[in-house]
Amino acid sequence: MWKYIVGTVAFGSVAYGVIRYFAGSTCYCTARLDGLVIIITGANSGIGRALSFELAKRGATLVLACRSIDKGIILKQEILAQNYNRQLQIYVKHLDLTSFDSIIKFAECINTEFNEIYALVNNAGIFYYPQELTVDGFDVTLQTNYLGPFVLTHHLLKVLKRAVHSRIINVSSEAHRIANAYDLKAITKCQSEFRSHFKAYSVTKLALLLFTHELSKKLAKTNVIVNAVNPGNVETAIYRSYPPLSKWWLYALQWPIRILIIKRPHQGAQTLLHTLLTSNRSTGQYFTECKLALPSSIAFNEALSKEYYSLTLEILDKKFITESEC
Ligand SMILES: NC(=O)c1ccc[n+]([C@@H]2O[C@H](COP(=O)([O-])OP(=O)(O)OC[C@H]3O[C@@H](n4cnc5c(N)ncnc54)[C@H](OP(=O)(O)O)[C@@H]3O)[C@@H](O)[C@H]2O)c1
Repeated sequence: MWKYIVGTVAFGSVAYGVIRYFAGSTCYCTARLDGLVIIITGANSGIGRALSFELAKRGATLVLACRSIDKGIILKQEILAQNYNRQLQIYVKHLDLTSFDSIIKFAECINTEFNEIYALVNNAGIFYYPQELTVDGFDVTLQTNYLGPFVLTHHLLKVLKRAVHSRIINVSSEAHRIANAYDLKAITKCQSEFRSHFKAYSVTKLALLLFTHELSKKLAKTNVIVNAVNPGNVETAIYRSYPPLSKWWLYALQWPIRILIIKRPHQGAQTLLHTLLTSNRSTGQYFTECKLALPSSIAFNEALSKEYYSLTLEILDKKFITESEC
């Protein structure tokens, strides 16, 4: 009998310790965001959804930028049903990052409806997605995860600069470490050539870090700070196309381990929340587990970030960004 009790207690303690360890850090900032406007792309699912609830609790005015308006409206109703605050304002806006027309329309609408924006969270992303070209002729992973946020950010700089303090958060990933400078340039220049889905994803996450670094230098004399965040491994719909998790029985086999070591969405949102709430105004940084971290050695490389920024403008052919927005 005692053997069973001791065994159960020991197993329970180890499992609890493992869950606590992999749950990651919690943001303990108590700052409020009453009335400050925050745009979250890909707000309707996973980390973006969890972040929306956290920000609503702190009084922020939310702009839920979703490619499905219906999903955005459902999320808005779910947040309002929590009764966090009577003054809470939530806007649902259509944004499809695979279309520059959609991005520009979204930005025009923000620029006319809002006088100033406190934060833009470039959260939307896809992983292990089938290789195809967007309506604009770019690789779907590159445009959704990098080129789209690049164009969107530039179109919102004017309204971000109007706030006393504002911030841009780019959601990157530890997967950026897998990409090297060669893959980065090759995949960016030749988007219709076959490449592994994983490499395509890791390249976009490295691209976001280089963009974070370069943009922070360009905005150094302004009120806008730019940082990148790694949310950690989080159980979300992003894995729906990933073969080891795409079939229900494969997922079921891994479930006992995943429940222990993979974060829940609200845990994945903690570092994003930290970068939005902290009074620390460092810029051009990479955050993980609610603190500063070092990315791969090339991610903040001066020459590469400058070169890659120019390459991005070149492949966009300046069609989607004017000189004044750069
Ligand atoms: N989950 C992880 O383990 C993990 C790890 C590291 C980094 N991240 C990063 O965290 C971010 C959020 O991912 P998640 O895990 O929360 O995934 P998720 O649950 O799949 O959420 C992704 C969001 O992006 C939206 N989206 C996809 N394509 C879009 C497009 N073309 N235009 C506008 N929105 C689009 C999705 O909309 P729909 O609902 O309409 O598809 C969804 O709302 C991503 O940038 C991801 O790379 C995640």
